[in-house]
Amino acid sequence: MTMNICVIGTGYVGLVSGTCFSDIGNNVTCVDLDERKIKMLEDGEIPIYEPGLKELVAKNVQAGRLSFTTDLAKGMKDAEVVFIAVGTPPKENGEADLTYIKSVANSIGEHLEKYVVVVTKSTVPVGTGKMIKDIIKSKSAVEFDVASNPEFLREGSAIYDTQNMDRAVIGVESKRAGDLLTKLHEPFNTEVVLTNIETAEMIKYASNAFLATKISFINEIANICEQVDADVTEVAKGMGLDPRIGEKFLQAGIGYGGSCFPKDTRAIIQIAEQANYDFKIVKSVEDVNNAQRLRLVDKLAKALGSLKGKHIGVFGLAFKPNTDDMRDAPSIDIIKEIRNQGATVLAYDPVASENAKTMIDQLQVSEDLYGTVKDADAVLILTEWDEVKGLDLTKVKEMMRGHVIVDGRNVFDLDTVKQLGFYYDSIGRRVVNNN
Ligand code: UDX
Repeated sequence: MTMNICVIGTGYVGLVSGTCFSDIGNNVTCVDLDERKIKMLEDGEIPIYEPGLKELVAKNVQAGRLSFTTDLAKGMKDAEVVFIAVGTPPKENGEADLTYIKSVANSIGEHLEKYVVVVTKSTVPVGTGKMIKDIIKSKSAVEFDVASNPEFLREGSAIYDTQNMDRAVIGVESKRAGDLLTKLHEPFNTEVVLTNIETAEMIKYASNAFLATKISFINEIANICEQVDADVTEVAKGMGLDPRIGEKFLQAGIGYGGSCFPKDTRAIIQIAEQANYDFKIVKSVEDVNNAQRLRLVDKLAKALGSLKGKHIGVFGLAFKPNTDDMRDAPSIDIIKEIRNQGATVLAYDPVASENAKTMIDQLQVSEDLYGTVKDADAVLILTEWDEVKGLDLTKVKEMMRGHVIVDGRNVFDLDTVKQLGFYYDSIGRRVVNNN
């Protein structure tokens, strides 16, 4: 069954979901206030870096199923379902800022002509569905339903995650909306969790907070491993074979970043606080994550004696591979602290350099992979890009002045770096010291 869909907001979530909904045969109009973005999309350009997205957008535009506009009235004209996928950035206190959501709800109310289901895809605090309903009602007498359909896609594999979703969470208040959204998800052949709106909103926060907990947990285990001569990668493997634990999300490193985990953990702490509940675990998860980034700088200072006057080559800036997203990337805090302690930095990232420059003052970037480590006293690994994993370490050593690698992503094998004569300190593993 073909449906007419309007998606408001063309960020990661809106653009990917809209494109994937069109790819299964629906007519989708994506709406954004940002004229520059819409112009780019109309010209076949994609405002974000996401593998495969450009091709999928082009395919569906060509098939006449996907279009872009700044005009909400046009977008909503024949729509049966309207998705809200605008940003919910954190406020000072960690609470989600609902300014964009409220303004979109107002506009939807103004343009409502016939029954639609208004669905939030953005991650919103519990109770936002009700708020949207009240706003639209205050503007229009036309019948409509609100619903929640949170998004679980990961940047870098967003299309795969959407096309192969492991569940569709659908929160509704009416059977009519539930049936419509269940039908819409049928081609994805996935398990539908049909529930009320508040539960759906909670599932999203609980999932992200749990995944963040898994990461901070393994990072603390790593920190202990370093003290007791255990190896965290093997600990994680041994734990992960228990299906109740699972092997995923147990990679120790420099902590999580990105647009979701830092924001959503802070938000769920706030949600709990407003419900008079002290969410102790997630508060600790946050503390551990903040500290984990800077442990890498301590490792570097320990390896070099002091950072004063030293030159550091940095591999990777994005918060994870396959994205140019720099939001809350650990590299920001790490590079700032290295420079505070008196070292200079030259950094390489295959796609995030331009974004990084807007977030790290006077960042020097290199276009040339091996040129990054020329005359470096030490090399720092912050993102496990394939290019970084595939580095020819012999060449790296030849280019460097020193022989120190501090690896925040456990990319290299300990025996290999030992043979090549490096001092190599990673996360939760023994320090290889050739001195
Ligand atoms: C995440 C969720 O996975 C997704 O379901 C949700 O909708 C949005 O937030 P994303 O932010 O794209 O997606 O990235 P993800 O791949 O989950 O990684 C988040 C961060 O955790 C990265 O900084 C990554 O380096 C870090 N991470 C992840 C670890 O440090 N160790 C791990 O084992 C896994």
